[in-house]
Amino acid sequence: GSGRRGEPPPGRARIVVLGSANMDLAAYTRVAPARGETVTGEAFRTVAGGKGANQAIAAARAGGAVRFVGAVGDDDFGPRLRAALDGAGVDTGPLRTVPGPSGIAHIVVDGEGHNAIVVVPGANGTVTGLADGDEEVIASAGALLLQLELPLAGVVAGARAARRHGVRTVLTPAPAQPLPDELLAATDLLVPNEHEAAALSGCSDPRAAARALLDAVPEVVVTLGAAGCLYATRGREPLAVPALPAKAVDTTAAGDTFVGALAVALGEGRPVRDALAWATAASALSVEREGASSSMPSRARIDERAA
Ligand code: ADP
Ligand code: NA
Repeated sequence: GSGRRGEPPPGRARIVVLGSANMDLAAYTRVAPARGETVTGEAFRTVAGGKGANQAIAAARAGGAVRFVGAVGDDDFGPRLRAALDGAGVDTGPLRTVPGPSGIAHIVVDGEGHNAIVVVPGANGTVTGLADGDEEVIASAGALLLQLELPLAGVVAGARAARRHGVRTVLTPAPAQPLPDELLAATDLLVPNEHEAAALSGCSDPRAAARALLDAVPEVVVTLGAAGCLYATRGREPLAVPALPAKAVDTTAAGDTFVGALAVALGEGRPVRDALAWATAASALSVEREGASSSMPSRARIDERAA
């Protein structure tokens, strides 16, 4: 080992995720029940999820040194969520356990692959600001990854701390909602999907949306599902990166896998074009497997697919 105890080796991307951890409770049924109806389903799975945990696991599997700041409950799901993050190599030292239930996402998937989801934030809803020690954790990062599944006050507090310490912030604006100027002002890289980009900018065309968003943030990546992504920065022509052909079986968390891998590649100092291609390979791999956190590819598999 090189360096101080707890310090990643030089060259490894240092990433902190401030975000949500949910237990996904997924029931698979041919036809979803109507109001008042009970149906018999085919399968039920519980798997760690939440955009924060998904991005953390994706980044760790991609080779980042990742620390996770957030909260789980003191119910049965809390230790399982922590174990899922630990198992992927994420440092859960800064993850707190609070009284009450963990966050859950209750998901009904029908035979056509459509889903209906209820998210109950639980412990995630307690993250309305930074706790003791969180600021030092954020200061230790090369990049802070943020999403919008925590209370906005908590997200803003994280972004401001990052700004104070010169840490680059990467914001996934999901679920889509109006963003306070203060949050945009502290965002370095915004990564909406096309729907979020349209909602935020009022422009349905992704190029126009990216251009409009550059008024608020210096760099934007709009992800376009099977159409790839569009990178935009001020004073340069936008760069379109096509998706890799993939046999998609489950596109859940494609965006989270993309962001996690992108942050790792950028954190290693790779040029934007290479980092985007590598993240594109990572997300192509993720759509070919079922599940969210269970589908995130290792660094070796990403390298192979990107080659
Ligand atoms: P989100 O999951 O946030 O909605 P997207 O659906 O835009 O995000 O997907 C993120 C990235 O995942 C895309 O930019 C693309 O590289 C990759 N991706 C998504 N769907 C597919 C697909 N069907 N085939 C190949 N790559 C895909
Ligand atoms: Na996304």
